[in-house]
Amino acid sequence: MANIARLLTKRAQDQLNVVYPLQVITRLNSSCKYLTEHIPISNKSWEFIKTEVTGEKKNVAVITLNRPKALNALRNGLMKELSTALKAYGKDANISAIVLTGSEKAFAAGADIKEMAPNTYSQCIQGNFLNDWTEVARTQKPIIAAVNGYALGGGCELAMMCDIIYAGDKAKFGQPEIALGTIPGAGGTQRLTRVVGKSKAMEMCLTGNMINAQEAEKVGLVSKVIPADQLLAEAVKLGEKIGTHSNLIVQLCKEAVNTAFETTLEEGLKYERRFNHATFSTIDCKEGVKAFIEKRPAKFINE
Ligand code: CAA
Repeated sequence: MANIARLLTKRAQDQLNVVYPLQVITRLNSSCKYLTEHIPISNKSWEFIKTEVTGEKKNVAVITLNRPKALNALRNGLMKELSTALKAYGKDANISAIVLTGSEKAFAAGADIKEMAPNTYSQCIQGNFLNDWTEVARTQKPIIAAVNGYALGGGCELAMMCDIIYAGDKAKFGQPEIALGTIPGAGGTQRLTRVVGKSKAMEMCLTGNMINAQEAEKVGLVSKVIPADQLLAEAVKLGEKIGTHSNLIVQLCKEAVNTAFETTLEEGLKYERRFNHATFSTIDCKEGVKAFIEKRPAKFINE
């Protein structure tokens, strides 16, 4: 499809060099626009990421950060592509879960220090620096971070915006911004503290020291440590397991868990109960309960 779009674009350009009736050029241009906008996300050519859809049922999307030479440092263009891919997979009814990963050496070594070097206070305020990074946290579908190597600064924050973190056994997590004379700006002081508690978060943010995968598991930052070469396959398997359930109910459940980070226990419990009540109005809940009683696998339709 991408090739057809390119071919049509080239033909339209060639035709602009010849004198063709205006209607012909307009029609060709609109065909190109249609094809470009409708290229499936997994066939798009990206500059800073790679995307593919995998799993037995082709319902798990894998987004790979792809700036290996710069240890996947998070520059604006990369974050824009990541947001675009997440939005597209978020809308794709065939996708049940998304895996976000990097290279063997680095999930991401933080915000791109070279890009951020010329930042000034007024530019940061007026451009709302780092505000666009939060698409990951806004995605309604479950996102699994599969972290090999370094997850530092913005990289650690990016992993924490995901719903579940699986770590390769050589992974390292840290918030080293303090050594650059700055502080975390995409959730490092907030999400990390909620997950690992004040003492550990303070130690990591004030020293910039890294913790390894085993320690990250011990303090609850990651849910599992896996040999590095099996990490991606295990993360995809996890996505597939989530994908055996109703996408609709998974979405409600994710929202309920996330509410725990954003409100009081009393409010959160009320929210959870109302969501629980709401599930009984869905076809999938009726089906799940019926399937259990009839001792057969449930067939969910996400309604
Ligand atoms: N930004 C830009 N480039 C980076 C980078 C970053 N965050 N991290 C690594 N790179 C680049 C290096 O400059 C180097 O590029 P060149 O080959 O062109 O010189 C390349 O990646 C390889 O890096 P190293 O040679 O340093 O590799 P290493 O194995 O010796 O060290 C490392 C690895 C410990 C991760 C080290 O690269 C490092 O400390 N990186 C910076 C980590 C950091 O401070 N992150 C926080 C950024 S600020 C932030 O994230 C703010 C926020 O809250 C959003």
